[in-house]
Amino acid sequence: MTKLPIVAAITVATSALAQRPANVSICDHYATALLGASNATTQKTLVALVVNTAVIGNYTTPNKLAVPGILAERAEYNGTTVSLLPYFNGALKSTNDGGEAGVSVNFLDDGGAEPLKMNKAADGMESNQYKLMSHLYSYFGHLLGCSALAGTKSSSDFPAYAGDKSMYETHKFMALNAYQVQYFIQQVGLSAASFGVATEDVTAVGEALQGYFGVKCAPETEIIMGQGKELQSICIAEGCPEAPDASCKAYGKVVKPEGTELDVEGGSDGEDSDPTSTGSPGGMPQETETKKSAGSTIGYSIVATGLVMVGLLSFFA
Ligand code: HEM
Ligand SMILES: *[C@@H]1O[C@H](CO)[C@@H](O)[C@H](O)[C@H]1NC(C)=O
Ligand SMILES: *[C@@H]1O[C@H](CO)[C@@H](O)[C@H](O)[C@H]1NC(C)=O
Ligand SMILES: *[C@@H]1O[C@H](CO)[C@@H](O)[C@H](O)[C@H]1NC(C)=O
Ligand SMILES: *[C@@H]1O[C@H](CO)[C@@H](O)[C@H](O)[C@H]1NC(C)=O
Repeated sequence: MTKLPIVAAITVATSALAQRPANVSICDHYATALLGASNATTQKTLVALVVNTAVIGNYTTPNKLAVPGILAERAEYNGTTVSLLPYFNGALKSTNDGGEAGVSVNFLDDGGAEPLKMNKAADGMESNQYKLMSHLYSYFGHLLGCSALAGTKSSSDFPAYAGDKSMYETHKFMALNAYQVQYFIQQVGLSAASFGVATEDVTAVGEALQGYFGVKCAPETEIIMGQGKELQSICIAEGCPEAPDASCKAYGKVVKPEGTELDVEGGSDGEDSDPTSTGSPGGMPQETETKKSAGSTIGYSIVATGLVMVGLLSFFA
């Protein structure tokens, strides 16, 4: 376990976090509660703590609960095996670089988990890892209402989101299913909860993420104010719940990513037995595996059954 200077400050506050006033965003409130002040630096640190913990699993101490992490080699969601690592380490040709098909990119090319455990994005600043992690900090910073990113206020201390505005475009060659997306969202929620974020705040974030990204065929939506409407569905595979105001024609055909020589398992997603989604462009179709486990699921779910955007107000407050 890494005990970090910044985390020493967390110790002070985790025992009794004051309730969040309705007019203070989740980001600003927990920056103050956990890090003693709310400014661009602490807001970015707060988001980095939550994102890094969601990605690699819990590494700070003290914490309120264990987080397996998005990169966990073998995880489970609702009894189905989920393994998202192959989308991050180059094992799958699942990255959208603007072409007609996905390409293999290693996003763990600059230190992997080690710099993340020091609350950093990467060892350096020129890597795929640095770009992805810093984009995630900004994106989640906007989602969590960090005031340092509001309007035109962002600064080099916490820059505004500069990545692709369409989460569909970013994720489309990953062909993600409901188990994978809900597992990801669950890790974000567990991460927040591990720092003492109140259950209602965790739930609001989980519901908003599920409502925006966990449904297929969602119509064009503006997520970050000022960025315009774009397609945002990340869950696009067979079995993903459909958005209430579905606009399926706006989306392309879902094609599962081909593996590379790194893809030792020949398939990495959870349940997916839809034969129409297995064709790979000009290559061998991916083997699909369904591993229903008898074991228990991680005993904590932030994903509510209703997909309505409950909690969006507190989300953006
Ligand atoms: C559910 C909510 C999710 C949100 C809000 C989200 C958000 C983002 C954002 C903001 C980026 C950076 C895009 C850019 O730099 O232009 C990104 C990239 C990425 N995401 Fe997600 N994501 C989500 C779910 C997932 C899931 C379930 C996976 C599963 C594998 C995933 C895998 C990736 C990968 C591999 C990248 C790098 C792709 C690239 O930069 O081209 N994401 N995501
Ligand atoms: C939130 O509301 C309280 C009480 O009405 C007020 O004192 C405070 O200044 C407000 N905070 C912000 C950030 O607007
Ligand atoms: C932000 O708050 C921290 C903690 O109080 C402080 O050390 C830092 O100087 C502040 N940064 C800015 C830019 O105000
Ligand atoms: C993660 O959290 C759990 C529960 O608090 C703890 O037992 C475990 O040691 C933590 N793991 C790390 C690597 O900090
Ligand atoms: C997982 O279980 C929860 C709770 O029963 C349910 O709401 C959700 O739709 C399930 N998700 C998947 C992908 O099976």
